[in-house]
Amino acid sequence: MATAAAAGRCGARPGPYTAGLSLASTEPAAAAEPTGAGTPAGPATAAPRRRAWARVGRRPPPPVLVPHEVTIDGLDPAHDGVTIAHLSDLHVGSLTPAEHVRAAVELATGAGAEVIALTGDYVCWRKHEVGMLREQVAGLAARRVVATLGNHDYFPSAAGVVRALAGHGVDVLRNRHTTLAVRGRPLHLIGVDDPVTRHHDLDQAFAGVPASGTRVVLCHCPEQAPGLAARGADLVLSGHTHGGQIFVPGLTDRIIDRMGKRYRRGFYAVAPDAAGGGAGRRAQLYVTPGVGFSGVRVRAGDGTRAEVALFTLRAGVPRAG
Ligand SMILES: [Fe+2]
Repeated sequence: MATAAAAGRCGARPGPYTAGLSLASTEPAAAAEPTGAGTPAGPATAAPRRRAWARVGRRPPPPVLVPHEVTIDGLDPAHDGVTIAHLSDLHVGSLTPAEHVRAAVELATGAGAEVIALTGDYVCWRKHEVGMLREQVAGLAARRVVATLGNHDYFPSAAGVVRALAGHGVDVLRNRHTTLAVRGRPLHLIGVDDPVTRHHDLDQAFAGVPASGTRVVLCHCPEQAPGLAARGADLVLSGHTHGGQIFVPGLTDRIIDRMGKRYRRGFYAVAPDAAGGGAGRRAQLYVTPGVGFSGVRVRAGDGTRAEVALFTLRAGVPRAG
């Protein structure tokens, strides 16, 4: 079933069906609407099947820039108005057209944000995708560009992905932080390594982060958000879900629920879990549907459109003490 495959695609190897879709993607590009997951196949003849395959092989709608204002209680007033662009799940490879990735890179750079944050899954499965990544992210630029890894980055070569990104000045934060002085006040960017492949270490990622200052956390998988809130995250940026990639009302959410997952796309106010001994605070989590394709070149339904998110931080209620 397409939706089940989409919901779990970040952990599933492409099968024969996927291989066929890759072949279809070599067709000449044409404008296309997202294909519905439940589109009836019509009579069981060869011709309608070929047409259905062609539809999913067409050029997908390009990523769009999606602006958000994020109000954070306790935010340093100096950081009111600071902007962060967020890109995730580029999935460079045979399913994601290079121009699709390039459009996202240009949107992020063109937004003029102080920071660009990348939250993993830059490639799909294969070694040669690392070279493609190096070419396709060229020109990504902001005052600071930071990244963390996703599960797919470990499949071909995490070290290769890190080198490809670092070659463009991207600071890959693997369970560590970096601090940027923005308007004279500290903005801490904390990167948690991929939790899906169990490379994450939340305590190590937060080690040495000063108590004062704004804390923006990058973590590929959103399910870590309660633990990140417990450690004092203000804003958590995640991807991984692709918004479900194919969203069928009443079905996709049920499947995600059964998988024990809590977050699909958009904003969540996340309460801290017990990890911080109750010292944490409610964090804002944003889960982007990301940019690229995994398993099938289709994004369809609510909350799945490829995007670059652009956050403007806003100061909320001052924090006591
Ligand atoms: Fe992904």
